[in-house]
Amino acid sequence: MSVNKLKPNHIAIIMDGNGRWAIEKGLERSEGHIKGYQNIKPIVMAAIKSGIKFLTIYAFSTENWNRSKEEIEFILNLAADVIDKESQELNENNVKISHLGSKEKLPKDIQEKIHRSEKLTENNNEFFLSVAFNYGSRNEIVETINKINLSENNYLTEKQFSENLSSNKFPDPDIIIRTGGQKRLSNFLLWESAYSELFFLDVFWPEFSEKDLTLVINEFSKRKRNFGT
Ligand code: IPE
Ligand code: IPE
Ligand code: MG
Repeated sequence: MSVNKLKPNHIAIIMDGNGRWAIEKGLERSEGHIKGYQNIKPIVMAAIKSGIKFLTIYAFSTENWNRSKEEIEFILNLAADVIDKESQELNENNVKISHLGSKEKLPKDIQEKIHRSEKLTENNNEFFLSVAFNYGSRNEIVETINKINLSENNYLTEKQFSENLSSNKFPDPDIIIRTGGQKRLSNFLLWESAYSELFFLDVFWPEFSEKDLTLVINEFSKRKRNFGT
């Protein structure tokens, strides 16, 4: 049986290439992050228009803490601005926003902003946006295992594991897009991507457009998904 779903339901995006976009233009890396953050809203809107229901965006990884203090601070400030600025409009579009990853290491003000935007949009059900911020898939996996009381369940099944993953409110991604030209997952959705269709685009995230998204969705509709059959 071939399960060729013509239309994707969940797209996940590794928003990579902000720094290189800026350097190529003779700008500071921080300019690339500004441009990158500005590109989030139009792409969320394009995703809503495209008919998918779920979008996950990878904005900051657990390994990104290894960057310079200045760059981290810059990104955290941008994120804080964007959460406040965009939550209202996304709420008006009936978008439910959720955070994926660990809130613990994040500054208190960002934790509160995330909490506020999740609370504001909690009853929305038209479109589901998950923002992976301070997210790492290995961390997610270990946290999940620690959450399950193994002494009571001495054999952990795949189903039980999946149900306990924090990403489990979303179906597995049909499509994973990575912008910026690198062909790797960089600790993103390692479990959930088991049968995702992967798209590696040469365009840097600040220039990723609705047109690129449409091309990916068209290309996806031509792929044959076998799921091992
Ligand atoms: C993605 O762009 C944003 C984050 C990872 C926070 P980069 O900052 O990784 O940009 P490049 O890959 O160095 O160009
Ligand atoms: C992946 O990009 C993480 C995000 C886009 C948030 P990186 O730039 O951190 O990945 P590597 O270091 O090139 O693998
Ligand atoms: Mg990068």
